[in-house]
Amino acid sequence: MSPPTRVAFIGLSASAWWAAAAHLPYLKSSPDYEIVALCNSSVEKARAAIEKFELGRGVRAYGDVEELAKDKEVDLVVCSINVAHHSTAIIPSIKAGKNVYVEWPLGHSLADAQSLLELKNSHNITLANVGLQARQAPLISKVKAIIERGGIGRVLSSTWAGHGMQGGGDVSEGMKYFLDAGVGGNFWTIHVGHAVDYVQAVLGYGFTTPPKTLLQTRRPTLKITGKDGSVVDEAAKMETPDTIFLHGTLKSEVPLSMTFRTGAPFPGTPGLDWRIAGEEGEIRITAGGAFLQIGYEDAKVEVVRGGKVESFKMGEFGEEEIDGVPFGNVSRVYRELREGRVNCSFEEAVELHKVLEEAWKGNGYPV
Ligand SMILES: *[C@@H]1O[C@H](CO)[C@@H](O)[C@H](O)[C@H]1NC(C)=O
Ligand SMILES: *[C@@H]1O[C@H](CO)[C@@H](O)[C@H](O)[C@H]1NC(C)=O
Ligand SMILES: *[C@@H]1O[C@H](CO)[C@@H](O)[C@H](O)[C@H]1NC(C)=O
Ligand SMILES: *[C@@H]1O[C@H](CO)[C@@H](O)[C@H](O)[C@H]1NC(C)=O
Repeated sequence: MSPPTRVAFIGLSASAWWAAAAHLPYLKSSPDYEIVALCNSSVEKARAAIEKFELGRGVRAYGDVEELAKDKEVDLVVCSINVAHHSTAIIPSIKAGKNVYVEWPLGHSLADAQSLLELKNSHNITLANVGLQARQAPLISKVKAIIERGGIGRVLSSTWAGHGMQGGGDVSEGMKYFLDAGVGGNFWTIHVGHAVDYVQAVLGYGFTTPPKTLLQTRRPTLKITGKDGSVVDEAAKMETPDTIFLHGTLKSEVPLSMTFRTGAPFPGTPGLDWRIAGEEGEIRITAGGAFLQIGYEDAKVEVVRGGKVESFKMGEFGEEEIDGVPFGNVSRVYRELREGRVNCSFEEAVELHKVLEEAWKGNGYPV
């Protein structure tokens, strides 16, 4: 067996829920990977995280991304921090020739993502991955397989309706950065961005012409709530869209319509309701929320054909699902990387950034 891939992690911290829940369990348990270094804003903070997550004494602590980049005993740098700081964090490692795995969105703007792509190419980085891992989700593969075996006949159209869960009047402190138009991480780029990708993973990539969009901020301010539920800001300025409509025709000729709004769905209705209508049947995908890249215990795929409904729930999507929510799909990314496969590439991520930024600007939001 070849030695494990040596990983340096940027953004594994006590407060960063996603990295600890999604990346850490796989990295700690897989014989193919070994966390050898951690980087935070200071060596002390990195040490504290190494201790908290029991990564072992041998793990090197860095307080500076430039120092981390100099570490020759690192094969892969994983970056899971606020998107506003992605490029600052990974540029030194790319320049040092290291492979990288960066969470989606790749950059805080299209230009930022494009410059990372150029840098990655000019330094001949072989593995540069962006975390749009819903692509690898068993549910997505299941839906693709149903369509490919002709389960609903020729696809006629698709509609997608998602809810933000958060943002219906208030958001938690950890998501406060969503309100800031300059950050690049918000309901449009994160909630809808992931969905625009996984919908295309099923129905085919690319729009014939840029999709038509309506992006609006209907609540000018939001309440910010602390961990204990107390209000820490009564009226924080909301600068990013909370109401989103997108429609266009995919290169696969399928007309697609997506609607999203922040806040909870109507009681008793799902947070995600995605339909794919075919000549001979229809697929309905429902889940607690829109984030299939994380996964939901209650996610369900239903297929109707000739009046007969077939239903698949988690565990029945036909692929290995041993890993559990939410880290299963991330572990698939790591497994593919280990085999030298990148899914999604920086090139593909830049294509998604183009769609999102064109709509963002077209609706009067500042770049
Ligand atoms: C550093 O650690 C702090 C505290 O745990 C955390 O809030 C922050 O996100 C971390 N930053 C990085 C770059 O890991
Ligand atoms: C990348 O590869 C090209 C072609 O093989 C080579 O000319 C160039 O020097 C390489 N760049 C780096 C930074 O290694
Ligand atoms: C990404 O993963 C999905 C699911 O396994 C697969 O269908 C698709 O072909 C992959 N794309 C690439 C570029 O490997
Ligand atoms: C993400 O991974 C988990 C664990 O494998 C899985 O149960 C969940 O369904 C996945 N998401 C989708 C959309 O399949």
